[in-house]
Amino acid sequence: MIVGSAGHPYWQCLVLCDALLSLPNVHVADICGIQQGHDSNEKLIQKEARTAGTPTSLTPNPSEIAKPLLPGFFPGDIPPINIAKLLVKERSLSNPLLPTAVKVTGSLGSLEKKTKKLVTTHLLPLGVDRKAYVDSLPWQSSSDGKRLSVKLIFGRALFQRLGKSQWDAILECLESGQVVEVIAQTRVIDRESLCKWVENRCLELEVREFRILTLDQSSDGNDDVPAQLRTDTAQMPFKHKPKSEWTTPQFAPITMEDIFGASNRIEFVNSTESIQSFVTATAGSISSPAEPSSDDHRSSFPASHLVGIDCEWQPNQLSARGEKQPVLLLQISMHTLQKVYLFDLQTMLRPLLPPDESMNEMESYVSQALLKLFRSKKIIKVGYQASSDLMRVAASYPHLPCFQEVPSVLEVDSFVKRTLQIKKQKKSRAITMSLAKLTAHYLQKSISKECQVSNWSARPLGQNQLEYAAIDAAIGPVLVENAMESINATMVNVTSNEISPKVERWEGDDGMSKVICNWRFTHFQCGGGRSEHEKYKLDKLKAGQVFGGDSSWTVSQNWIVGKPEPPVPSLLSSS
Ligand SMILES: *[C@@H]1O[C@H](CO)[C@@H](O)[C@H](O)[C@H]1NC(C)=O
Ligand SMILES: *[C@@H]1O[C@H](CO)[C@@H](O)[C@H](O)[C@H]1NC(C)=O
Ligand SMILES: *[C@@H]1O[C@H](CO)[C@@H](O)[C@H](O)[C@H]1NC(C)=O
Ligand SMILES: *[C@@H]1O[C@H](CO)[C@@H](O)[C@H](O)[C@H]1NC(C)=O
Repeated sequence: MIVGSAGHPYWQCLVLCDALLSLPNVHVADICGIQQGHDSNEKLIQKEARTAGTPTSLTPNPSEIAKPLLPGFFPGDIPPINIAKLLVKERSLSNPLLPTAVKVTGSLGSLEKKTKKLVTTHLLPLGVDRKAYVDSLPWQSSSDGKRLSVKLIFGRALFQRLGKSQWDAILECLESGQVVEVIAQTRVIDRESLCKWVENRCLELEVREFRILTLDQSSDGNDDVPAQLRTDTAQMPFKHKPKSEWTTPQFAPITMEDIFGASNRIEFVNSTESIQSFVTATAGSISSPAEPSSDDHRSSFPASHLVGIDCEWQPNQLSARGEKQPVLLLQISMHTLQKVYLFDLQTMLRPLLPPDESMNEMESYVSQALLKLFRSKKIIKVGYQASSDLMRVAASYPHLPCFQEVPSVLEVDSFVKRTLQIKKQKKSRAITMSLAKLTAHYLQKSISKECQVSNWSARPLGQNQLEYAAIDAAIGPVLVENAMESINATMVNVTSNEISPKVERWEGDDGMSKVICNWRFTHFQCGGGRSEHEKYKLDKLKAGQVFGGDSSWTVSQNWIVGKPEPPVPSLLSSS
């Protein structure tokens, strides 16, 4: 621990702050003022405030050294002043600055309510006389040693995340003088904000999260502290402990019960008997119009003919390098039945055979059972990045016809992105980045990822693996329904088996026409001795190798529903 003056410009230290801070395990602690008479401090502060912006003298007046002023060190990066100046002057320049995050503890100045969704306040370091610091620069940068003031913006980002009721509750408990710990971002992308930085050394921070701290009465141990330092321990940051939670709610993990109202909704399919019971149970919803059961509150969802799809394979971490990892488990969530069927492909099918291999008895049984569902236009196959999962299943079992052509596929991520665009919501990429982010956004729940890297070839699978697998498939339709609801969209043409449904916000709406696609996967087996012609054709067809290697090639085609089907690819010569 370096006590006191390391890097402090008044002490002419030989070690620069930046050099110190680049060392491992060196952190900037909050430094509180040593209260040795307010009068002299105040003068100094006023002087500092006036001279802020000019380089700090390296040969200060000896009397100033004798009475060092230790303001709160600002623990974050400050925007580079030269670039900021340029950007303010030359508005046409594109802004290269990126926001940086900072975690800082301080006490709130007076709150200024600008609008219902915007509150600003100054943040003061602990240990300063609040009155003395009004309109001055109470912080000191640990980067350039100069003074600055810090303004907190509780704005739209926080409002949107918290929702109105939580926001109101938080405003209720915020008050001037309160000690808070804040995680915030610099607003360097905002020119007005940069302007304040350049002209007044006022650093605006957009609050992402904060919590209120309270004085920790239980901790003492002041005995070693010299008497003159003991005057105001209430202002020491380490004397505080959290009083409130962080504003970001830690979402509870989602369960099958949250989705379907009951937990016993998982069926494991690994034998002719269990396939038969899948066929019997699903026959109705596959061939006839979806009639949601009336006894459940969720049946009011507009799109109960959605079927959630997901699959699992051995994670790279658990497999030898370069080994092909076929899909071992295929999850099918029948939303109308409120059931998830886990197809144990590892047990029932032989993976990675050539496309012209004939199926054994079990394989034809599986293929027949799934064909109706997968080939149905009416039933929309929904999943997070569904097409890449479907391609992997198809390439894992090229000799099973059921997987090779899949009409009416809806990708949750692209669909949600489209709805967010329609709603002009920013940050749509952050929201759709993962299934977990989507779940947090729409359902305020988290998805446990702990099973993702688990041994999916172990049998029997563990209870939490089954639950994880089921949830990943079941959640897709729920998210899609939420996204549809948010833009008042409905599915039309959902009763005929001959045409695919369409998402519409009003009659004849074409803005969502691209969200449902048909997919077809065609596989080619070409050994190392490929002819020039084959190479040329594979290239032309944009064939890819799902598992790497050199001999199995897959061409994936997709076309928007209602559009003409492209020709089946072939390696044979054609004009
Ligand atoms: C996964 O489980 C199977 C069956 O229990 C076992 O043979 C295999 O070694 C396991 N793999 C890993 C990487 O633990
Ligand atoms: C099918 O799965 C059940 C439940 O995990 C298990 O008890 C049974 O042995 C499995 N059957 C086959 C043929 O693997
Ligand atoms: C959806 O409909 C409701 C009620 O008709 C309306 O208040 C709302 O603004 C609509 N939302 C969108 C995104 O069109
Ligand atoms: C259903 O599809 C048919 C044929 O594509 C079309 O003429 C009809 O307008 C559609 N119905 C609705 C409600 O969109």
